[in-house]
Amino acid sequence: MFTGKRYKISGTTLVEAKLLNRDIIGVDVNDVALERCREKVDFEHEGADGKVYIKKGDARHLAFIPDESIDLICTHPPYADIIKYSEDIPEVLSRLKVKDFIEEMKPVAAECYRILKKDKFCAVLMGDTRQKGHMIPMSFDVMKVFQDAGFKLKELIIKEQHNCKATGYWKTNSVKYNFLLIAHEYLFVFRK
Ligand SMILES: C[S@@+](CC[C@H](N)C(=O)[O-])C[C@H]1O[C@@H](n2cnc3c(N)ncnc32)[C@H](O)[C@@H]1O
Repeated sequence: MFTGKRYKISGTTLVEAKLLNRDIIGVDVNDVALERCREKVDFEHEGADGKVYIKKGDARHLAFIPDESIDLICTHPPYADIIKYSEDIPEVLSRLKVKDFIEEMKPVAAECYRILKKDKFCAVLMGDTRQKGHMIPMSFDVMKVFQDAGFKLKELIIKEQHNCKATGYWKTNSVKYNFLLIAHEYLFVFRK
C-alpha cells in the first residue's frame, strides 16, 4: 500500500514544466502519486498551454516513448529503500536495498538515454544514506550508472536540504554514534 500519509509526493516538476509552457510526460508507477500529480497540474495559467500527459509506467520500460523524442528529462528516483513509497507495487524501486537498487537504475539510465534527443539534458536528483554509522554514497553510484549508459556529466549541483528534522531516529543516532546528519542531495545534470 502506498504510504502517502507520511511521504508527500509533490508533483512540483510537472507544475514548473507547465508554467514554462512545455509539453510534459509525467511517469510514475504508483497510482496515488499519479493522482496527486493530476490534481497539481489541474490549473489554468496564462501562457501555460502545453500538453500534459500523465502516464502509469515503469521508468525501466518506457516503450511508449519513441527514441530521441524528448528535450529534457527531470527524474527523482527513490533513494533505494530509505523511504518506502509502496509496500505492494512490485515495480517500485524503493523496495530494493542499495546494491539491487543501483543494478535496477541501469535500465532506467538506458531508457533515459534512448528517449532523449542528442545534446539535450537529463537531470537526476539523488541522495545518500548511512549504514551502521558510515556513509553510503549511493548517489555517486547512480551517477556512474548514467555515465556508463553514455551520458556526460555537465554539472554537479549540491542541493541543501532545509527540511532535516532536529529530532527523531537520525538525530538521536547521530548523537549516540557520533556522525553528521546528511543535509544535502545531488542534482546531476547529464548531457547526451
Ligand atoms: C523521490 S519520489 C519523487 C517524487 C517526484 N519528485 C514528485 O515530486 O512527484 C520517487 C518516486 O518514484 C516512483 N517510482 C518508484 N519506482 C518507480 C519505477 N520503477 N518507475 C517509475 N516510478 C517509480 C515512486 O512511486 C515515487 O513517486
